[in-house]
Amino acid sequence: MRLIVLGPPGAGKGTQIAVISKHFNVKSISTGDLLRENIKNETKVGKLAKEYVDKGELVPSDVINQLVENFIVGLEDGEGFILDGYPRNYEQALALKNILSTHSVAPIEKAIYIKVGNEEVIKRLSGRLTCSLCGAIYHKENQPPQKENICDICGGELIVRPDDTEEAIKNRLVVYENETAPLVDFYEQEGILYTIDGSIGKENVSQQLINDLSDL
Ligand code: AP5
Repeated sequence: MRLIVLGPPGAGKGTQIAVISKHFNVKSISTGDLLRENIKNETKVGKLAKEYVDKGELVPSDVINQLVENFIVGLEDGEGFILDGYPRNYEQALALKNILSTHSVAPIEKAIYIKVGNEEVIKRLSGRLTCSLCGAIYHKENQPPQKENICDICGGELIVRPDDTEEAIKNRLVVYENETAPLVDFYEQEGILYTIDGSIGKENVSQQLINDLSDL
């Protein structure tokens, strides 16, 4: 299984990838999570990325392509994978093709597009809580933790992401429309686009994805 997952900020990419990677026992990588980890650890990449991520701008593609290439190189022969939040523009889509062929990895089989309207994503992002230790995702109303501000899974503190402010959310939506949304047509033309309605409730989305991806 070799998948990429597209969709606006807050579409539920991270939420669904956690479910499908566990269900199918496939490795996944989120470029957003990797960047946040680098920012937390104040690495060279983190120092460069911080101002872009906090404002909701895209981090320069050469930095991101390298992170993804490192992940691809670390896979076993024939091992499957799911990419979350990558590619995010044409430059990255072309780089991904190149990375896969350079390392003799077969092409992406499906580009999953989780489709959700702007009003819904704004509601979701303004209520999102993220575990500062394991990255698990909650929502103040839709999916609250059992104990306030404590992760059910690892006991870590739940935080609001710095790019979940009103201003950064607005900017992320603009960046998504301008840079990433055109990839929906790109993958449709490649014949691998799979669109799912992301507004039908988390469990329904997961169930549909599990059913439809079972044949891969
Ligand atoms: P990234 O971390 O990838 O953020 P994003 O794409 O904006 O997506 P999110 O993580 O915000 O949302 P999601 O779709 O995963 O939704 P989630 O499952 O959390 O990127 C962050 C930043 O890093 C970028 O802005 C950029 O600066 C940089 N970056 C990353 N990749 C890059 C790249 N390739 N190139 C350049 N820069 C890059 O769900 C959201 C909320 O909704 C949760 O609270 C959840 O509980 C709730 N929810 C989920 N599904 C449902 C549902 N079906 N019904 C109701 N609620 C739901």
